Amino acid sequence: MAVGVFDSGLGGLTVLDAVSRRLPDVPFVYFGDNAHAPYGIRDAEDVYKLTTAAVSRLFDAGCDLAILACNTASAAALRRMQESWVPKDKRVLGVFVPLIEALTERQWGDNSPPREVAVKHVALFATPATVASRAFQRELAFRAIGVDVEAQPCGGLVDAIEAGDEMLAEALVRSHVEALKRRMPHPEAAILGCTHYPLLQGAFQEALGEGVKVYSQANLVAESLADYLGRHPGMRGTGDASMFLTTGDPGFVSDKATQFLRRRIEFRAA
Ligand code: DGL
Repeated sequence: MAVGVFDSGLGGLTVLDAVSRRLPDVPFVYFGDNAHAPYGIRDAEDVYKLTTAAVSRLFDAGCDLAILACNTASAAALRRMQESWVPKDKRVLGVFVPLIEALTERQWGDNSPPREVAVKHVALFATPATVASRAFQRELAFRAIGVDVEAQPCGGLVDAIEAGDEMLAEALVRSHVEALKRRMPHPEAAILGCTHYPLLQGAFQEALGEGVKVYSQANLVAESLADYLGRHPGMRGTGDASMFLTTGDPGFVSDKATQFLRRRIEFRAA
């Protein structure tokens, strides 16, 4: 009974950390496609091919359910995968919906028409591919009306995080927040719409100011997964061991992951 967690690289570890705290008895198989990160500058076809290859590997490792802990893949590939690729006995879920439900104060399975919500000015920080897809605005429009979303494509940020260059990453956060504030001076909420960005949550909060509520996905996804597995216990799969797989250099990726999560993580070659 293992659940797969996929990301282009290290960012999905923020989700992995939260889901394994919330569900300590569930083994998780993590797949980081570090050799091909970042996805955020790739086109949708490319993201689709890489994501389906990675998820196939998770199925082979005994997972029946895979979480795309990657907004770029969730935005650019998930719908197509669910419509025409995912085998009947498997499931693939993305990370957008739990976040939007939290922002729009919705409960599980609330399919009522879109309505006005408290938050009116939302800043979205995400990869260039996620911003270009407009998937966030589309999902939001199903649930809320009258919300003004200003999206900032954060070019370079995932590369800096993958390379472990914290100073560059913090400088990029400041400049992306400044760029957004020129277009939306007073956002009420900010969405970290890339699973790499919670590794810099402090830098985002500082640049945005204390009055801005920063939403990140890890804990929201963990709650959603716990709820989902409660309702679909059969989706835990046959795998019984946690492991970390990477297409990159296992030594380098293990060291960076250990630095981020502050516990020893050992990756092996996918
Ligand atoms: N962490 C991923 C996301 O949530 C992907 C970032 C990338 O590879 O560009 O979008």
